[in-house]
Amino acid sequence: MINPTHSLRVALLLALTTLLTVTLWELNSHPLTCSYDKKAKDLYDPGSLYSTHEVYNNTLYQNGLNNNVHAQHNFSRPCEGFPDTTNIMFIMKTGASEAFQKLPTQLLTTMSCLPDFLIFSDLEQQIGKYHLYDALDRVSPTLMNQYPEFELYKAQKFCPIPQHYCAAEMSGGWDLDKYKFLNIADRVWQRRPGMDWYVFAEADTYIVWSNMVQWLREEAPKGPQYLGNVALLNEFPFAHGGSGYVVSGELMKTMANNITDLATKYDERAGGVCCGDFLFAKAASEVGTNVQQVHPMFNGERPLSIPYGHGQWCEPIISMHHVSPEEVSTLWQFEQTRKNKSTLLIKDIYEAFMAPSLTQFRQDWDNLSDDTCFIGPHQVDQENAGDTEKSRQKLEREKTIVEKEAHKSPTACAKVCEADKLMIPEDEYLALSDDIKKDHYLQEKYEKRIREDVGGVFRRGRSCFQWRYHQGACCISQSFKLGMPRHGAVEDEWTSGFFVKGIKQWIEARGECLHPDWREPYLTSPMHESE
Ligand SMILES: *[C@@H]1O[C@H](CO)[C@@H](O)[C@H](O)[C@H]1NC(C)=O
Ligand SMILES: *[C@@H]1O[C@H](CO)[C@@H](O)[C@H](O)[C@H]1NC(C)=O
Ligand SMILES: *[C@@H]1O[C@H](CO)[C@@H](O)[C@H](O)[C@H]1NC(C)=O
Ligand SMILES: *[C@@H]1O[C@H](CO)[C@@H](O)[C@H](O)[C@H]1NC(C)=O
Ligand SMILES: *[C@@H]1O[C@H](CO)[C@@H](O)[C@H](O)[C@H]1NC(C)=O
Repeated sequence: MINPTHSLRVALLLALTTLLTVTLWELNSHPLTCSYDKKAKDLYDPGSLYSTHEVYNNTLYQNGLNNNVHAQHNFSRPCEGFPDTTNIMFIMKTGASEAFQKLPTQLLTTMSCLPDFLIFSDLEQQIGKYHLYDALDRVSPTLMNQYPEFELYKAQKFCPIPQHYCAAEMSGGWDLDKYKFLNIADRVWQRRPGMDWYVFAEADTYIVWSNMVQWLREEAPKGPQYLGNVALLNEFPFAHGGSGYVVSGELMKTMANNITDLATKYDERAGGVCCGDFLFAKAASEVGTNVQQVHPMFNGERPLSIPYGHGQWCEPIISMHHVSPEEVSTLWQFEQTRKNKSTLLIKDIYEAFMAPSLTQFRQDWDNLSDDTCFIGPHQVDQENAGDTEKSRQKLEREKTIVEKEAHKSPTACAKVCEADKLMIPEDEYLALSDDIKKDHYLQEKYEKRIREDVGGVFRRGRSCFQWRYHQGACCISQSFKLGMPRHGAVEDEWTSGFFVKGIKQWIEARGECLHPDWREPYLTSPMHESE
């Protein structure tokens, strides 16, 4: 029997088919379609590389990365090498003000290979097939009326149009965030109890899952555990939320079961406190577990800001923070197209993201260096310098002759690293009449020192890798980091540079990483009593 809806459908289908046929016939007879057809044919030619829509030229295959990555990016099976995350739960925390900017790239990349995860926000939302849970919907109305940050929460909730129109001029996202941590912990335990590990991260955290899973399964300590990149608040250690942190199932269970009204209790404490990651640490310590330090494997930096060198080299990288959506995508692409599938180490990130861009000078570039600064001795020099620079300056009487001149210009500043630990005799150096002579003199001294450095002790011990010059302040760095552009007016330029020779020779003398240096987690400071 044919019911009325069915016959309607048949009629519709017929009408559509006719329309399509007519349209196609019209297109075919149109001269423009010739070039259109040709292009489409080239793109989708079954014999071509692009026929599957799965293989593209690898955009990372350039700039000296040719040895590290494959020329093509074949993502027909992106999750093939992805580790088995059974019994490991991933929880992402975000906010309505950022979710649509940051989450899609996460979902398209690493999260696309996770069979299960939970996303919590300060508003219930949907992105494609993914649901964002509101972590704050059980906060008591009394608190909501008491604290101004909940104005934003309410504005979001009752916004009838896209969020950015309603919340554009409102602040409070940061203050709302602190209420989420224990509300999330509570809900996660209800929805996904009994896992071995819970991995918490934020929308601008990048997780290297191969390392995370290997570490959790083979290296991480057992029992009630709370591990991450430790920060301090009033000397109380907590795992910094943006760097990602992990909590063992055992600890989650104890927190959920032994602390009465966990979320409510900490909602009430949140008012006078800055951060939710700190509150989480308080709750964990209430049941006797303090955070353990896993830095630099859990890292608060991103590829362009990691201070590479001493202490950040052979360690596997498990997480990074402040990664932009573009960086998330690039890191994923790098993981996917790496030729060498060995454990991803911090030095591999250096090789991929910094080494190709090493140059002696970078105009309008900053953030490289501020470990030690050199400022002129006169009052006017001191007045011009920034507070950070001043607080890190070397005293005039402790400076070498090269350091004494460093504040004069970018080229003078650049000499500090080359002259570092060379014991340049002051009278000899002062007798040189110009910059070019000084350059030659330093170069000779340096090369001689390298020739004498048979065991590599001098090269390995280097503590000056790069410099930054801004308004009469020369600062150097004990590590090497890429940094970013920074423009100033003519009088206010930022110039930076790398001591490329020194970096390369340090790397050479440092030698291969014979095995990944998995760091043992440790308690950072004497345990504090819970309040
Ligand atoms: C891909 O790379 C190859 C080799 O470098 C080049 O010949 C080809 O034109 C590239 N294809 C596209 C679509 O860019
Ligand atoms: C891409 O990978 C798939 C399987 O992973 C393979 O069958 C295919 O041949 C690869 N394509 C190219 C162009 O390498
Ligand atoms: C949690 O509660 C259980 C049952 O009451 C108790 O046996 C256990 O010692 C408690 N654990 C902690 C760390 O307080
Ligand atoms: C550069 O410095 C500014 C302020 O000093 C800071 O906000 C920013 O995060 C730094 N960037 C990097 C890449 O270190
Ligand atoms: C891969 O990297 C490891 C560790 O750096 C190294 O020992 C090994 O030789 C590399 N393998 C290849 C094929 O390059």
